[in-house]
Amino acid sequence: MEGFLTLQQIDQAADAVREKIKTPPQVGMILGSGLGELADLVEEPIVIPYETIPYWPKSTVQGHVGRLVVGRLAGKEVMVLQGRTHYYEGYPMDQITLPVRVMQRLGVKSLFVTNAAGAIHPEFEPGDIMIITDHIALIGMAGLNPLRGPNLAEIGERFPDMSQAYDRELVELARGEARKAGINYREGIYICLAGPSFESPADLRFLRTIGADAVGMSTVPEVIVARHGNMRVLGISGISNKANLDGSTITTHEEVLEAGRVIVPKLKAVLLGVLKNL
Ligand code: HPA
Repeated sequence: MEGFLTLQQIDQAADAVREKIKTPPQVGMILGSGLGELADLVEEPIVIPYETIPYWPKSTVQGHVGRLVVGRLAGKEVMVLQGRTHYYEGYPMDQITLPVRVMQRLGVKSLFVTNAAGAIHPEFEPGDIMIITDHIALIGMAGLNPLRGPNLAEIGERFPDMSQAYDRELVELARGEARKAGINYREGIYICLAGPSFESPADLRFLRTIGADAVGMSTVPEVIVARHGNMRVLGISGISNKANLDGSTITTHEEVLEAGRVIVPKLKAVLLGVLKNL
């Protein structure tokens, strides 16, 4: 048997966080590439470097700070991951999703996930935000499902339902907050690939054909693990670049980080608004 993380190991990580914080968090947040700034708004922050938590994966990518910030935001107790890890960094799926398991063990009931994504939908533009209404777990279908291995029965069932992975009430709240703030938001289907190479034009035409609106290298594993433990999920993509379906332009990581500057204020407005209304 491969070495999957056990409940005891997850609880060791959860204990390391619990020891350092005062109040149990209610809401978890994972902030994607170039979107970590929101963590700076957390009041009375307790900052925990990833290196100090056992088994916790360390982010190795530029644009991902790599610290856990626990405190209050919009009147709620939050636990914010400023920077996440991705499968392409070399960690196994269960380790990438350990932060979500730790949130579950600490009692977090709702998870807000954000990511930088490429637009596949022809009308989406860099700087847009897209409220995720569903996902395509392409890497999961190909075998890289984070729930592979012994089921953690204390947390969830062997075959968890994914019919409403993105909570409809939270989606509705996010729409309302975006409208209130005058943000012209999008909605759509996010697809997760393993990365780290960006897609070829033929890859992208395939992804469009199967119904994806935005493409990235994260989020879906975290959401599957969150739903396994019955957390409510809100997901928002920040569109950082237009996917290159005809091969006429190139995609760079700098472009992804640059778009973050336009996207962050929009994300702030929507996520803080939803937090207040929870
Ligand atoms: N493809 C995959 N992942 C991404 C992209 C993209 O175009 N942009 C940001 N993350």
